[in-house]
Amino acid sequence: MSNQINRLRGTIDIYGKYADYFTYIVDSCTKIAKLYGYKYFESPVIEPKNLFVSSVGESSDIVKKEFYEFTDKSEREIVLRPEGTASIIRAVIENKIINQEIHPIRVYYMEPMFRYERPQSGRLREFHQFGIECIGTNSYMDDVETLIFAYQIINSLGIKHITLSINNIGNFNSRSKWIAALTKYFKKYEKDLTQDSINRINTNPLRILDDKIDGKKDFVKKAPKIDEYLTEEEVQYFENIVNELKRQKIPFAIDPTMVRGLDYYTNFVFEINSTEPKLSAQSTLLGGGRYNNLLAKLGAKDEGCIGFACGIERIIEQIELENITLESNSVAKVIIAPLDSKCNSMALDLLIKLRKHDISAICNFNSNKIRNHFNLADKTKCEQVIIIGEKELKNNKVLIKNQKTLKQVEVDAKEIVNFLKGE
Ligand code: HAM
Repeated sequence: MSNQINRLRGTIDIYGKYADYFTYIVDSCTKIAKLYGYKYFESPVIEPKNLFVSSVGESSDIVKKEFYEFTDKSEREIVLRPEGTASIIRAVIENKIINQEIHPIRVYYMEPMFRYERPQSGRLREFHQFGIECIGTNSYMDDVETLIFAYQIINSLGIKHITLSINNIGNFNSRSKWIAALTKYFKKYEKDLTQDSINRINTNPLRILDDKIDGKKDFVKKAPKIDEYLTEEEVQYFENIVNELKRQKIPFAIDPTMVRGLDYYTNFVFEINSTEPKLSAQSTLLGGGRYNNLLAKLGAKDEGCIGFACGIERIIEQIELENITLESNSVAKVIIAPLDSKCNSMALDLLIKLRKHDISAICNFNSNKIRNHFNLADKTKCEQVIIIGEKELKNNKVLIKNQKTLKQVEVDAKEIVNFLKGE
């Protein structure tokens, strides 16, 4: 026992029921991504550190304290990827996809991310994000579509206890004026702020607004609002989104304190948060927004982009808290049950035939006992058991038992596929 090696803090092994949830969510997200015309994209797990320093921003928590970083044998500064957006934009520029394809370029990803945070419920050091990026668009309709996409993902999983918040944080120009006003304002209240917020007054006062403790204080709620610094064009852009979202009957609320924690965002930002009390400290299931300057910052022509990402583990926690039963995720639809070793070859023929017709099927060749076959059927929650005894082998027939209705019928071996497809 003393030699046992355990997994690192803040990491999890994905198996059993958790793996069923995990794959169900990933499948559902992928299906929706394809409906929206998005294509799969994968970037490396290791990236140059300065990619994130210059995109996510020096004042962000990710850069300040959450990197998993190391220097490799050639003295390069490397980090384990903490988020997907900067990597995707780097890759789209580096591989010249930005020059080739019709814009916007639509990509999705499902990848592990690494942040050195204090692990707790809903917060891991290695977690998985499903994310999308819509690259090269200045139309507000893409903001609307992206939000509808995000909402559909959460809806498709039956999640109900959520709020959807949006905000207008302006472009860098307007925002720097707002930040200056906030710095001045919070300096007056320094003694009433937590140490974390005091440290942020000069580096990132926006984060005081959505701080879990200080954000609730009255004087923080009364701090200067971005509205005073937005240009007419920015106000109009946001209004267009709001009107279209109302037209589409998306149930959102405007939250002027929601600023998101990454520096690259501009204008439209949004979050889907859990209202489950147990997740209150880590309630953001999905977050995203527009980032209009990242392409230019990383070396391409200036064009707008928008995207979002959700944490799969956090969504699983939400599903468990809401007691949602996801559609049964059985190992296979059909179990073949040969009752004698003589029947094994016919069982193998059937397995091959069913899989050719896209019907998932398994057989335990280690036993010919009917009890063992049905134990397996119960455990794997399969829909049908196909029994082959000596008599069936001789007549080229099988018995098919429906595990739900418990009805059993004799079917000609040639007709099995038609029968199962009709069921
Ligand atoms: P983010 O808000 O940092 O945004 O992360 C997105 C989601 O990842 C969060 O809403 C949460 O569900 C999940 N997440 C973040 N940190 C953890 C953690 N330590 N443990 C478990 N889950 C976590 C981004 O990363 C942006 N790149 C999203 C984006 C894409 N914006 C535009 N395009």
